[in-house]
Amino acid sequence: MKEKFLWGGAVAANQWEGAYDVDGKGLSIADVQTAGAHGVPRIIHDHVHEGVYYPSHEGIDSYHRYKEDIALFKEMGFKCLRFSINWPRIYPQGDEETPNEAGLKFYDEFIDELLKNDIQPVITLSHYETPLYLVDHYGSWRNRKLIDFFLNYCKTVFHRYKGKVKYWMTFNEINETMNKEEPFFQAGLRFKEGENPNEIKVIASHNMFVASAKAVKLAHEIDSNYQVGCMVQYPTTYASSSRPEDQLAQRFQMMPNWYYTDVMAKGYYSNLCKAQLRRLGVNLEVSEEDKKILKEGVVDYIALSYYFSSIASADDKNDCIVTRKNPFLERNDWDWPIDPIGLRIGLNELYDRYELPLFVVENGLGLDEYPDEKGQINDDKRIKFLKDHIIQLKKAMDEDFVDVIGYTTWGPIDIISVGTGEMKKRYGFIYVDKDDKGYGTLKRSKKKSFDWYKEVIASNGEKL
Ligand code: BG6
Repeated sequence: MKEKFLWGGAVAANQWEGAYDVDGKGLSIADVQTAGAHGVPRIIHDHVHEGVYYPSHEGIDSYHRYKEDIALFKEMGFKCLRFSINWPRIYPQGDEETPNEAGLKFYDEFIDELLKNDIQPVITLSHYETPLYLVDHYGSWRNRKLIDFFLNYCKTVFHRYKGKVKYWMTFNEINETMNKEEPFFQAGLRFKEGENPNEIKVIASHNMFVASAKAVKLAHEIDSNYQVGCMVQYPTTYASSSRPEDQLAQRFQMMPNWYYTDVMAKGYYSNLCKAQLRRLGVNLEVSEEDKKILKEGVVDYIALSYYFSSIASADDKNDCIVTRKNPFLERNDWDWPIDPIGLRIGLNELYDRYELPLFVVENGLGLDEYPDEKGQINDDKRIKFLKDHIIQLKKAMDEDFVDVIGYTTWGPIDIISVGTGEMKKRYGFIYVDKDDKGYGTLKRSKKKSFDWYKEVIASNGEKL
């Protein structure tokens, strides 16, 4: 492992901060999503309804408790913390010219607290926190005006935190925009009658590509030390058999994902992107000006989340069928297969394709767990999961020569789940006393994995 390898954890503002309407913050798209459960989707409201439980409103209240949380991260020896800035804390509506000073002040103090504890801030600019006002009044990312609003926000924080931050990333899991279920979570997209969802997703993605490229360029102008990455969910996918049709289906399944990394890491719509657009039946005209921007704003690194792998096969009509039911793999309680080797494969695929440094910024195991009669949580399953993934990460680095900057586990402290809004889907080394209805003392306590991860970091990945 490199000497300066960035070990740490990752969180998102909407899942841990709470304080959803404090100090002038506006609503984000996360603030109107109800709690769901495994198999029960979260409902998206137009506005906040009285008496409804919205998990993001309190999160785990880190807005008020972050000093305690950072102290625990420091005890584990974190080299970095990946977190997102809650965009509507800085620009409550999103289209204002001047920022909300109270929001900036909060992150001043938060970042200073990290630095005081020798933890490097790694910042996601947009992690499912687009201001709701921009969705209601501008149609979210389908509207090009969002590029300027986003850039205005970036400019503010790039200047404000200059000299304190090195790594930024633009949009969390940007490739989820193409996903069937998540265009609202990711990009705030709601479809109107008669609209072609694929076309809207392609246009919204293009606007985000341009925004991201402009942000990269701007960041470098403001501080030449800044490194700006894109961030994708990496869905390593296997063909279900050696049948050529299944192999082709596997490729088709990966294309919408490489579509995103190709544009942001190569700086243009590659041949694969054109083929993907044809498959979607969408014609995208890209202006010469936008082509230039994309070229000038190639990312410095690629950040990825990795949780599980999938299987693709072709049906009688040669349509691609995807499943997570791999007979060779165990699954967690939310049916996510556990596949450490899939991480090594994913890292190799991305590095072969782009030869840019990679940053694993999310990985972890969601478990429904409670303290035993002694108040302890023996999360051996989580330890095994992380250990097995770190082994594969090391193989990718040491044996396959993949350049990886760091590894941050998802939710080092239990936070709200994005997919279900549950609290019981816990990823942390630190337990938080709160249930799915929002009740609990919010008290923090260490799980068994806390000391384990501390050793991993102290030994730079040698003691697993
Ligand atoms: C990623 C997101 O998709 O996966 C996180 O970037 C999310 O925000 C994480 O929390 C785990 O998903 P879930 O649904 O278990 O919270």
